[in-house]
Amino acid sequence: MKAVEIKPGIYWVGGIDWDLRNFHGYLTQCGSTYNSYLIIDEKITLIDNVKYYLVDELISRISQIIDPAKIDYIIQNHIEMDHSGSLPRIMELCPKAKIYASPKGVEGLPKHYKKNWNFHPVKSGDVLNLGKRNLHFVQTPMVHWPDNMVSYCPEEKILFSNDAFGQHIASSERFDDEYPFNIMMHEAAKYYANIVLPYGSQVQKALEVVGSLEIDTICPSHGLIIRKYIPEILEKYQQWSRNQVDNKALIIYDTMWKSTEMIAHSVHDAFEAKGYQTRKFNLQYTHISDIMTEILTAKYICVGSPTLNNNILPTVAAFLTYLKGLAPKNRIGLAFGSYGWGGQSVGIVENILRECGFEMLDQIKLQYVPDADILKEKEKHLIDQIK
Ligand code: FEO
Repeated sequence: MKAVEIKPGIYWVGGIDWDLRNFHGYLTQCGSTYNSYLIIDEKITLIDNVKYYLVDELISRISQIIDPAKIDYIIQNHIEMDHSGSLPRIMELCPKAKIYASPKGVEGLPKHYKKNWNFHPVKSGDVLNLGKRNLHFVQTPMVHWPDNMVSYCPEEKILFSNDAFGQHIASSERFDDEYPFNIMMHEAAKYYANIVLPYGSQVQKALEVVGSLEIDTICPSHGLIIRKYIPEILEKYQQWSRNQVDNKALIIYDTMWKSTEMIAHSVHDAFEAKGYQTRKFNLQYTHISDIMTEILTAKYICVGSPTLNNNILPTVAAFLTYLKGLAPKNRIGLAFGSYGWGGQSVGIVENILRECGFEMLDQIKLQYVPDADILKEKEKHLIDQIK
């Protein structure tokens, strides 16, 4: 339960959520942290806080440095409850503290907590003097809610980026250079794919601002503090926010009697024959949030379902709902599946993928158990369509 000094007078005082496994539908196998930062200056400043059930950890860590009653300023970069949920307890300890948030944040906080605290709205370009240091505010709407902003301290070259550049990782290590790089980047990708993906154009605007700042430390609100791999994470955010994809095809399906699975194998072989990286996911075994991590860089998204009760299987419906909400762009889709009679599933899948804005390949729809020759024929036709 130690506070960790990031730079002289600046501390990580957040909470570690070791047991978190579900973040509104996102499978968080590595847990998470809610990072909160304490700046000791003429004005004692707390940046963001933690989920309500970790408030005792937060208070314990702050108390190792300073009496929480001495907090003058609270910066709320984002009002979602994983970063604001401890405000009621913190405000009991320092009731006169001023709370700084974006205009949308100041509008939203009383709606969450039903309190009329000492709110101060700040906009892009506003600067708050803490004594020796200053905090410059930049609004970053929709990265991840309309209220989001980041705070930049030029004297320390630190960007307090809130949700941007986060990773859901619970660990005793606090810095990127103390933790396995590949796992951190995988979790950063999963976080982007499952939380930030719909907001690519807003991320692009935020990256423009970040690119103009001198930064040697990024302090996000989840996971590891980034001080070594800043160029690497910025490059990935550029790629992801532009929806730049690799020559990679995903085959995602569920199956009743293995017939749709036979088509899935055939679709896989077609992409393999064209030299694509492939990933095949049976929705019975792989969580949709892990599939999203792969979708982040996949050009082709092929989705299969047999027909069940004139419809698609519930696993496929859940996946497609999740996919549509996260709105990846510049993808090519394929719908496939087997059926006994009715045969509505393939059309339903195709319509949803079209609603996602995907260009579509010719669908593959086969009755009962697919005949090997017909499958070969479909595979050959698919190979001809793959770019
Ligand atoms: Fe980590 Fe949008 O909250």
